[in-house]
Amino acid sequence: MSLILGIETSCDETAAAVVEDGSIVRSNVVSSQISRHAVFGGVVPELAAREHLASIETVVDAALKEAETTIPSLDAIAVTNGPGLMPALLIGLNFAKSLAFSNSLPLIPVNHFIAHIYGSFLDGKTEMPGLKETYPLLALVVSGGHTALLLIMPDSSSEIVGTTLDDASGEAFDKGAKIMGLGYPGGPAIQKMSRGGNIAKFAFPRALTGSAGKALSPENRFNFSFSGLKTSLLKHCKKFGGEMKDAKFASDTAASYQEAICDVLFRKTLDAADYFSAATIVLCGGVACNSALREKFPKGVPGGIKLITAKPEYCTDNAAMIAACAWRCLETSERKYDIDAFSRIDKLERLPFVVNVR
Ligand code: KG4
Ligand code: ZN
Repeated sequence: MSLILGIETSCDETAAAVVEDGSIVRSNVVSSQISRHAVFGGVVPELAAREHLASIETVVDAALKEAETTIPSLDAIAVTNGPGLMPALLIGLNFAKSLAFSNSLPLIPVNHFIAHIYGSFLDGKTEMPGLKETYPLLALVVSGGHTALLLIMPDSSSEIVGTTLDDASGEAFDKGAKIMGLGYPGGPAIQKMSRGGNIAKFAFPRALTGSAGKALSPENRFNFSFSGLKTSLLKHCKKFGGEMKDAKFASDTAASYQEAICDVLFRKTLDAADYFSAATIVLCGGVACNSALREKFPKGVPGGIKLITAKPEYCTDNAAMIAACAWRCLETSERKYDIDAFSRIDKLERLPFVVNVR
């Protein structure tokens, strides 16, 4: 039995979790700073760092206590070292470094983007990746920072086959909600406002899908773009400023806007799954909490493809997914503490990926 303490501070959640054998969540503590950032309509990096600093010790203590364990009983400490907001990342990374160093424990740096995928394999909900019939595995990672399709093969190789050319889908929700005056974070706010709304009432654009008579260039077949959609909503809200005060009109707008995002995510994923003969589709990241998206996938994914959707509590940022991802590297982990943080991954086309063949 192995126990890993995960620490996550890449954005506006200070999180710590203890995970047993890469999938049994013994504790999962998340301290959200949402209310501190809401007044600014988005996450302020320096403020996030200050908040992480104030709460990290309490959050880690709470995770150890809830897991009924202590630091000497741990096998390793895992920490997000990127991608994310640099000032925020540095708080978690330095805290984890000192904790690991002073207790002579291995420190495992974790890629937050990859870790989102492991959020789908927690609590023994589904079998672990590694079984041959699971691959090729296509992961749609949709969050505030990313919107990408990652293809993972049985030999552990992985490749980002599609990414966003501008905004992430989470940003499309957050910025869309700001335009509609619905507050932050935008995803849950738009989802709530869209309840009872007509998804077909307004035809918001579906970028890079070849719809509306626009030719789709082959290199963008699996890429996304959401900035035009946001502009379209802005124009809509300016044009119908008066009408937007009407609850039904606002709800139809929110529902149509949400549908434009979900429709593109769904269509692109299915097209990529077909093209790469995927055996499994994994849906993860904060936007995967969205109820419209969660309904759309099971209805439309062909029977031959297995769909794995992360539980909502493991879709948004958490440290259980960090510990779960790190478990795949436990055997090769070292007592090495000179680890740097990185803010972006988009320069990498191929990512190292450790598949757990059991
Ligand atoms: O994964 P996450 O917690 O943080 C990042 O790694 O970015 O994702 C946060 C994003 C935010 O943009 C938020 O608006 C979005 O996830 N989100 C949602 C929902 N809940 C959170 N988007 C759509 N519908 C939701 N229910
Ligand atoms: Zn995230």
